[in-house]
Amino acid sequence: MTDIAQPADDYLVKVEGLTKNFPITKGIIFQREVAAVHAVDNISFEVKSGETLGLVGESGCGKSTTARLLLKLIEPSAGKIWFEGEEISGFSRSQMRRLRSEMQMIFQDPYASLNPRQTVGQIVGAPFKIHKTEGEGKKKVQELMDRVGLNPEHYNRYPHEFSGGQRQRIGVARALALRPKLIVCDEPVSALDVSIQAQILNLLEDLQDEFKLTYVFISHDLRVVQHISDRIAVMYLGRIVEVAEATELYKNPKHPYTAALLSAVPKGHSDSSGSERIVLEGDVPSPIDPPPGCPFHPRCPKAHQVGGPDGVPENCRTEFPPLDEVDPDHIAACWYPLEQGEKLQQAAHA
Ligand SMILES: Nc1ncnc2c1ncn2[C@@H]1O[C@H](COP(=O)(O)OP(=O)(O)OP(=O)(O)O)[C@@H](O)[C@H]1O
Ligand SMILES: [Mg+2]
Repeated sequence: MTDIAQPADDYLVKVEGLTKNFPITKGIIFQREVAAVHAVDNISFEVKSGETLGLVGESGCGKSTTARLLLKLIEPSAGKIWFEGEEISGFSRSQMRRLRSEMQMIFQDPYASLNPRQTVGQIVGAPFKIHKTEGEGKKKVQELMDRVGLNPEHYNRYPHEFSGGQRQRIGVARALALRPKLIVCDEPVSALDVSIQAQILNLLEDLQDEFKLTYVFISHDLRVVQHISDRIAVMYLGRIVEVAEATELYKNPKHPYTAALLSAVPKGHSDSSGSERIVLEGDVPSPIDPPPGCPFHPRCPKAHQVGGPDGVPENCRTEFPPLDEVDPDHIAACWYPLEQGEKLQQAAHA
């Protein structure tokens, strides 16, 4: 691995030990912290220039919080962030202003993230005004509209006059306006019909080639992430539990959680799915009081298999496993990583 303090040049973004706790307070006048939501817990990863890093995991596992931390829309409780080799963790708002145009975000719900009182022209043109760059003007906005598949003549229309897919195209155009290097896409197609999803994903891929964009692509839907990602990071309860190249992750999952997520994805178009669906028992534990050790151990089929009648092995219960390289360029945080093709037993509490 490269020296953490001096990330290699081909990393656009790198985070180390990133952590975010949201305090839970009690009392009206004298507020005191009684607990904290451990939304993101000591995660480290890099995003290479020009790649798409997929970020997957169940609802509440900390994906959106990670996105907001990356763009410094919220301050981390701990950890460091580098952008183009420069540490930006301690940057103030004014210092970040310089970088704002380089990092943009596309949101899940294009309707909620677009001002209903502004026309497309105003929405897509707004970044030009905020950042005082030249070229503000109808022509430039219309070029962008054209590029993302919107009719430039609809410049004066309002968001409600567009369909869901078209609204997301407006969101894409807005993100693209200042020619960013990084775009964090937080569930950008989750609210759209499947047929429309593919169009938006194809658009994002085309734009990536054309503008040399780097994406962090967040989704709870593994099919969507598989389609678009070069590498994938899997999150569970605020932790990253596995990172690998996309096809490798699908062929050869090492973490039992990843295997369970994958088993729930229908394979291809035919019904002949190769793997049995692994049903995870129990709900995702609360991030307020995550289980000690590996946070997945209470639901982990492998831990129960290994422990047998003795119950879950002690190391799973007491110590978070290090993110180790289990295969080349494939890291997983598991005391008992899966062998290639290993089948997991069905129920965790059999
Ligand atoms: N501002 C906040 N204050 C308190 N808790 C928060 C805040 N933002 C997020 N959380 C909590 O942090 C945890 C992670 O939330 P986050 O939105 O990052 O998850 P997510 O993976 O994006 O989920 P989803 O797939 O539902 O969007 C959740 O338990 C959430 O309730
Ligand atoms: Mg989210």
